[in-house]
Amino acid sequence: MRVITTIQEMVAERSDCASSRTVGFVPTMGYLHEGHLSLVRQARVENDILTASIFVNPTQFGQHEDLASYPRDLPHDLSALENLGVDIAFVPTPDEMYPSNFVIYVDPTGPLANEAEGGFRPGHFRGVATIVLKLFQIMQPHQAYFGQKDAQQAAIISHLVSDFNLPVKLHILSTIREADGLAMSSRNAYLNQQERAAATVLYRALQAGRLQFTDHPLAETTRAIKAMIEAVESESRVRLDYVEIRDPDSFAPLEVLRAPALLLIAARVGSTRLIDNFLLRKDGTWNTGILFNA
Ligand code: PAJ
Repeated sequence: MRVITTIQEMVAERSDCASSRTVGFVPTMGYLHEGHLSLVRQARVENDILTASIFVNPTQFGQHEDLASYPRDLPHDLSALENLGVDIAFVPTPDEMYPSNFVIYVDPTGPLANEAEGGFRPGHFRGVATIVLKLFQIMQPHQAYFGQKDAQQAAIISHLVSDFNLPVKLHILSTIREADGLAMSSRNAYLNQQERAAATVLYRALQAGRLQFTDHPLAETTRAIKAMIEAVESESRVRLDYVEIRDPDSFAPLEVLRAPALLLIAARVGSTRLIDNFLLRKDGTWNTGILFNA
C-alpha cells in the first residue's frame, strides 16, 4: 500500500492509473472500526484499484465540538487498510487541504442542510460537502462508498453528486452494529462502562419506532415519535437531541408513516453525542443495519 500525504503526489499517482481500471474510494476520518472496514471490504471486491483517505476535517467541526480530542490511531488505521488490500491511502495534513489562501466552500441549502443534524450542528454539512468535493477532485474515483449510519451526510453527498454532475457512482452501505445493537462509531471510544451500557437505548428507541410502523402503517408519525421518546426517557444518563421521521432524500418531515422513511435519533450520553437511524424502504423492507459478531 502506498501512503501519500501531498495533493501533488496523489494527483500524479492517480493519473498513472490505467484508464481501463476502475478506481474505488472510501473517505474516512480514521480511528477505523468494523463500520469503516465493511465499506473497504465491499469496495475492494467492486474495483480494480482501491483508495481510501484518512483526514479529520476541521471545517465540519463546530467551535465547541471535539476536533482537538477526536480519537486518532494512524498506525492501526494504516495496517487495517493494508490488510484489506487498499492500494493507496491518502493522509493529508489540514494545511495541505486548507492552505491559507483557501476561500471557496460548498454550502448546502434547505431542510437537508439546516434541519435534524444540520439544526444541531450549524455549518457541519458545509464542511462535509466541501471536503468531499475536494477529495473527489483529487482522487477522481469511479465509485465511492459511504455508510447509512450517517444518513443525512449520505443524502447531502448524493445531492452534491447530482447537483454538480460529478462522474462518481455512490454506494451507501448498511450500518454495522455491536452485538447489542449500538451503531459502531469512532466516538464510542469516549463512553465509560455505564455510558456504553446506556447508549444501547438509541437502538432500542429505533426498534420501538419501527414496531409502530409494523403495527400501525399510515398512522400519524407523532405516535411512533412518542414511542421513541418514551424509550429514551427510560435511561437517565441519556439526553435526547431529537427523534424525527423524515423522507430519506429531501429530509422533509413526514406526517404519516409511509415508505420510504427514515427514523432518526440523536442523543448525548454523558458528554458524547451519538446519532443513529433505521431506513424503511419502498418495497417494505427495513434497513436496520447488521449486528457484528452477534
Ligand atoms: P467517518 O465518521 O470516519 O466515517 C467514514 C465513513 O464510514 C462514512 O461514510 C460513515 O457513514 C461510515 N460509517 C461510520 N460508522 C459506520 C457504521 N457503524 N456502519 C457503516 N458505516 C459507517 O463520515 C465521515 O468520516 C466524514 O464526514 C467524511 C465523509 C470522511 C468527510 O470528512
